[in-house]
Amino acid sequence: MKTKKGIICKVVKSGNRYNAFAADGTKHTHDITTGARKRALAAGMALERRVNKSGQRYWWKVPMSEYEATEKSSAPQITAKPEVEVPTGHAETMEFIQKSYSLKPRDLVIGELKWKYLIRSAVRGKNIMMTGPAGCGKTLAAKSLVNALDRPNFYFNMGATQDPRATLIGNVHFEKSKGTYFSESLFVKAIQTPNAVILLDELTRAHPDAWNILMTVLDQGQRYLRLDEQDGQATINVAPGVCFVSTANIGNEYTATRQLDKALLDRFVIIEMDTLSDEQEHGLLQYMFPSVESEMLKKVSSIAFLTRSESKADNPRIASGISTRTSVEIAGLLFDGFTIQEAADITIYPQYDNDGGADSERTFVKQIVQKFMDDGSSDDLFDVEDKN
Ligand SMILES: Nc1ncnc2c1ncn2[C@@H]1O[C@H](COP(=O)(O)OP(=O)(O)OP(=O)(O)O)[C@@H](O)[C@H]1O
Ligand SMILES: [Mg+2]
Repeated sequence: MKTKKGIICKVVKSGNRYNAFAADGTKHTHDITTGARKRALAAGMALERRVNKSGQRYWWKVPMSEYEATEKSSAPQITAKPEVEVPTGHAETMEFIQKSYSLKPRDLVIGELKWKYLIRSAVRGKNIMMTGPAGCGKTLAAKSLVNALDRPNFYFNMGATQDPRATLIGNVHFEKSKGTYFSESLFVKAIQTPNAVILLDELTRAHPDAWNILMTVLDQGQRYLRLDEQDGQATINVAPGVCFVSTANIGNEYTATRQLDKALLDRFVIIEMDTLSDEQEHGLLQYMFPSVESEMLKKVSSIAFLTRSESKADNPRIASGISTRTSVEIAGLLFDGFTIQEAADITIYPQYDNDGGADSERTFVKQIVQKFMDDGSSDDLFDVEDKN
């Protein structure tokens, strides 16, 4: 006997998945068994959620006209997905890549070849891993790529993820009225969005469980997410054209970074961000803070550059150089009326160890800054005595 009227779903096949949607676009795939969804699709029928006498829910095949009746009264419809333009033919794609440097935002400094390689990798659906030291523009480049492509995009900060399963798969909830149900994560939605660009920021700092979950998703031969590790059936395929862009701090001084699993790393095309030359950095600071005296900004970029060169020397007296992030921070302080000395006190010195007094990293960096305070030249820089 028929009981209370419930939700009515239509089954839509995408790839080898059978998804069930209500007319308002809500997805009910996970509430319905795969067999029921397949049978409904094969019969050209819709599925209605009903409750039996003992209060249990079940899905019952109903004529498609019943679904269509609900469709008229509800919006938006599932077919109304935004269309994204992606070049398809080879000639078109090639031209798009070759001209793509014009898509690079002005506030990102990256060489033309690297940028084009980034665009090319994204257009070709490669998984991209941006590497380089802290504050060199990895996240900025990844975000700029996402903006430039005008595709649906999603951002996940993997470094901040406490519970990888909840972030990447979803949560099981319990409510008295509904019983136990599964609410899928934004990531599940993201990977099912055709042509989406999915940013996985700070992947190297993610929990190893996250890497395990991502292993099949990122594998070009697999491209699926397993929803439930106990149940071998429940998987979601990655939609066509989806591209993953991740950032890492591999091979630098960043200690919080875990060594990324080799197998996971193998699934990526690596794009190494270059650290900026002093001219490039000066140009960036001038562009960002046009009202700050150019000479002052030149000092900032020179100080940063000298620290970077020193850190790469054979017997470096400092382990790492000042990042572009810090240079931008200093320029911002100058813009707000601080002196270079003050800005250095606040932003630079705390990054360097004070142990060892006159031989400490901090003393060395202070000498560099001091030199630029005196006369702005860097001659005989490393011979000066520490005046402090
Ligand atoms: N190549 C660059 N071009 C332009 N700005 C840059 C560049 N590198 C760094 N910056 C400046 O530094 C800031 C920090 O950059 P970003 O967040 O991209 O660094 P990151 O490499 O992701 O660092 P982390 O390893 O700490 O995550 C940017 O907001 C920008 O102002
Ligand atoms: Mg970053």
